[in-house]
Amino acid sequence: SVFDVDGHEHKVRSYDGKLVPPFEEKGYREMRDLQLRDDDILLCGYPKTGTHWTWEVVSMIVRKEGEISKVGKKSTFLELGLGKLMDGIPSPRVLSSHMWFDYLPKQISDKKTKLILTVRNPKDTAVSYHNHHVALKALQLYDGPFKNWFQLYMDGQVEYGTFFDYYKDWDNVIKSKPDLSILVVNYEDLKEDLPREIRKIADFLQISLDDQLVEDIAKAAGFEGMKKAYLDLKNFIFKTFFRKGDVGDWKNWFTVAQSERVDEAMKALQGTRFQNLRYTL
Ligand code: A3P
Repeated sequence: SVFDVDGHEHKVRSYDGKLVPPFEEKGYREMRDLQLRDDDILLCGYPKTGTHWTWEVVSMIVRKEGEISKVGKKSTFLELGLGKLMDGIPSPRVLSSHMWFDYLPKQISDKKTKLILTVRNPKDTAVSYHNHHVALKALQLYDGPFKNWFQLYMDGQVEYGTFFDYYKDWDNVIKSKPDLSILVVNYEDLKEDLPREIRKIADFLQISLDDQLVEDIAKAAGFEGMKKAYLDLKNFIFKTFFRKGDVGDWKNWFTVAQSERVDEAMKALQGTRFQNLRYTL
């Protein structure tokens, strides 16, 4: 655990010297040796950057169905160490993880696994991450106020460290491994034009979709549609994944000083493909 300035506990664990969610160590350890199939797709991204949204969009594209699945991203989340359950997932599997590249399955490079990386502006991400913990109150992971959370977030005292280190690492990976097959998807782009992004993802996966299917997927993946489908899953954890779904909500939470602190930290991403994230639409 780590503690904020007022002594509120934030439950995390350390794995190989890095902060991660307090799941069993097994999942983190086994992930590296996971046997990949040739047609696996792996969805990555810092928490709260739209990973469930993208997971559903990608899943609908590969199934060629305009309906939200009954299983949800949790069923393929590598951190959970699902072991044999992974074998039962029909191909193509849409796997997911928030881990840094060096901890992901070794076979990615050999299998040329298609990777999809989500990113969202770090201010909305901070707000969403805080509210994720508020909503998961029952799990008692953290219950401090936003201003304390913000400190932890900027200091990397949260699961998966800082947003800035996370995307700096991915940029290094992309630059140093030109053979990787990777598509970056921005939350703000999904909000701006979901059908366009669905087509972009389908092109990347070399799957052809007719216009009607693109429209159906966009409708099913709308905020209200997804929220309803997830609430039907009856797992309280899923409720936390649909709060506001907006770009720019950070303005309702941030002080000027906090905003400036993020702008300053963004300098670490200058010269990377993540340097121009959008804060409004
Ligand atoms: P907010 O907390 O800002 O509302 P993740 O899936 O990576 O945990 O990200 C969760 C964030 O994505 C939440 O942001 C959630 O509301 C938003 N989200 C989930 N589905 C969405 C959708 N269909 N459209 C827009 N935003 C969505």
